[in-house]
Amino acid sequence: MAHVSDLIATDIEQYLRAHENKSLLRFITCGSVDDGKSTLIGRLLYESKMLFEDQLAAVEADSKKYGTQGEAIDFALLVDGLAAEREQGITIDVAYRFFSTDKRKFIVADTPGHEQYTRNMVTGASTADAAILMVDARKGILTQTRRHSYLVNLIGIRHIVVAINKMDLVDYAEGVFRRIVEDYTAFSRQLGIEQVTFIPMSAFRGDNITSPSAAMPWYHGTTLMGYLETVEVDDGLMQRAPFRLPVQWVNRPNLDFRGFAGSIAGGTIRPGDRVRVQPSGRESTVARIVTRDGDLDRAVAGQSVTLTLADEIDISRGDVISTVEAPAEVADQFECTVVWMHDEPMLAGRPYLLKIGARTVSATITEIKYQVNVNTLEHVAAKRLELNAIGVCNLSLDRPIAFDPYRINRDTGGFILIDRLSNNTVGAGLLHFALRRAHNIHLQHVDVDKRARAALKNQRGCVLWFTGLSGAGKSSIANLVEKKLHALGHHTYLLDGDNVRHGLNKDLGFTDADRVENIRRVAEVAKLMVDAGLIVLTAFISPFRSERRMARGLVEEGEFVEVFVDTPLEVAEARDPKGLYKKARRGELKNFTGIDSPYEASEDPELRLDTTRLDLEAAADAVLAWLGERGMLSRTPGG
Ligand code: ADX
Repeated sequence: MAHVSDLIATDIEQYLRAHENKSLLRFITCGSVDDGKSTLIGRLLYESKMLFEDQLAAVEADSKKYGTQGEAIDFALLVDGLAAEREQGITIDVAYRFFSTDKRKFIVADTPGHEQYTRNMVTGASTADAAILMVDARKGILTQTRRHSYLVNLIGIRHIVVAINKMDLVDYAEGVFRRIVEDYTAFSRQLGIEQVTFIPMSAFRGDNITSPSAAMPWYHGTTLMGYLETVEVDDGLMQRAPFRLPVQWVNRPNLDFRGFAGSIAGGTIRPGDRVRVQPSGRESTVARIVTRDGDLDRAVAGQSVTLTLADEIDISRGDVISTVEAPAEVADQFECTVVWMHDEPMLAGRPYLLKIGARTVSATITEIKYQVNVNTLEHVAAKRLELNAIGVCNLSLDRPIAFDPYRINRDTGGFILIDRLSNNTVGAGLLHFALRRAHNIHLQHVDVDKRARAALKNQRGCVLWFTGLSGAGKSSIANLVEKKLHALGHHTYLLDGDNVRHGLNKDLGFTDADRVENIRRVAEVAKLMVDAGLIVLTAFISPFRSERRMARGLVEEGEFVEVFVDTPLEVAEARDPKGLYKKARRGELKNFTGIDSPYEASEDPELRLDTTRLDLEAAADAVLAWLGERGMLSRTPGG
C-alpha cells in the first residue's frame, strides 16, 4: 500500500540525504483531537531541537491568543498548522514531519482520529515501522483506540506503543495506568497483537517523554523518546525476503542497452543470479546492476536500480522480476481485505482499476464475504462497502498478475482501487491468497470461432445496447429494430429487462448493487451471443456509466453500439405506460429510476434517439440507417 504515499517521496528523499548515516524510524501517531496527539508531536519536535527560534516565537504568541493551556507553550498549535484545523479544532489530513536526535532520524505521520478519515490513517500507516496509539488517561480505551489498533495490525505494523497521556490530570495514579493496560491487553489479544509497550506520560508537562518522570516513580519502563530511539527496525527483514523487482519502466536509450528499472521490493540480487519474469514465466540471468553511481555487485530491498539481463526477453512495465528459487505467485483471483475510502459505496460486480506495484489491471469484487465491525470485531453480512468500511472480499482481475500475500510483502501484496471514470483512488487492499479456482479454470480453446459462426449466418455479430429511463421507449424501439432486421434475414436476439428479470435475474431487485449485477449478467450473456454470431439487442435502463462501459469492454472494438433512448423524465413520466411513476411518486415503489434512484445519461453514445422528435418508426429506421452506413449489415462478414 505504499503507493498512496508516493506523493511525498521527494520531500522525504531531501530530508534523508541530510541525515544519511543515521538509521530511520517511520512511525504514526493515532488518536483524536483531545488525546493530546498534536501536543505530543510538538513536544517531540521541541525536545529534539528541531524547532527554529522564529517558529517558537510564533507559537508562543499563538499560545497566548488561541491556547488552552494558560501561559505555557501550547505545542498543539505548532503542529495543527492549518487554519481550518485551528478554527474547527480538528486535524484533517496526514501531515508528515521530520526530526532527528543524536541516535536516529524520524518521520512521523500525524493522522487524524475522526472516523471518516480512515483513508488518511491507512495512508499514514502504510510505510510505518511503529505506531503510537494515544489514550487519554481520564477516558481509557475508546472505540477509536480499538479501530486504530485494528487498522495498525491489519497494515502489519509490528511495534505498537500505547501512550497513556494526561497522567498529570489523574494525579499520576498508578492504578489508572494499570487498569488501562489490562483493558487494552484483553482487546489486543483478540486481534492477535503480540507485543505492546505501555508508557504513562504527560506530553504537556513532559513526563516520560525524554526523561523519566519524577512524578511517576512506580514506572520503571522506557521513556517515549528512549523507545523510539531504540525500537528495532528490522531493515534486514525485507532484505532476507525473496527478491522482487516490480518493473517501473523499461529503459532503452539505444539498441545496445535494455535495462529494467524499479525499486527493489524485497530481497537481494547479484549479477549472475537466475531470475524469472512474471507473470510470463520467462527466465534469464542478471548481467549488470546499474545505478546512477555506477554498477553494483549487490543490491537490496529499498534500492532503486536498473537490471540488465543476459538474454533478450520480453519484459514490460508492471512485470515482476523474481529469483528462480523463490518466485512470486501468479493468479487472477484472490481473497483480499478492502478498505473503502470513497463517498460512493463499493459495489460487488462493478469494474474498477487495480494498481499493484507498477501494474494496473481491470478488477471486480465478485463477492463481499463479510464486513468487519472494527469496534467489536464482528463479521457482518454486506452487499456494499460504505466509506471507511473494511470488508473481506473475493477479487477477480482481467488478467493474471505476479503477487505475494500482503503479510509476506507489503509492496507486492498491497493494492489500491481506482475509479475508472474519475481516476480517484477509492479503496486500498491487501491480498490474502489466490483462490484455487484461478489455477484450475482455463479458457477452453475451441476450433469453431466467432468469425466462423457469424460467416455461416452471413453477418457480423454485434450488440445494440439500448439505455434510457423506464418508459423512454427502449423495448418498443428495440422490438421494432429486431423485426426489421429479421425481415432482412438477420439472425438476432432481443434481451429485454422485464423478460430477463423473470428468469435469469429473478433473484435481483432494484438496489444499486442489484442493478450492477443485473447488467453484469446481461453483458456476459450478450457477449456469448455475439460470440455465437448473433446481432444482440438489449433493452435495460442500465443507469450507470461504469457498467455500460464494462459491457462495452467485454466485446471487441466496433461490436458495441450504445443507443441512448433520450427521453426527458417529464415525458417518460407523462407516458407512464405501466403506472410505475405514479406508484413511485406515491412512495409505494422505492428506488425508482429518475425519482429516487439515479440515471447517468449517456455521454458519448454511438447513437442518440430523441424520442420527442422521432416517432417509433423513425427511431427504428434511424438505427438501421446508422448500421447500414457503417457496413454493419453487409452480408459478407469482414466486408
Ligand atoms: S436496470 O436498472 O437494472 O437496468 P431493468 O431495465 O432491468 O433495470 O428493469 C427496468 C424495468 O423494471 C422498468 O422498465 C420497470 O418496468 C421495472 N421496474 C420495477 N421497479 C423498478 C424500479 N424501482 N426502478 C426502475 N424500474 C423498475
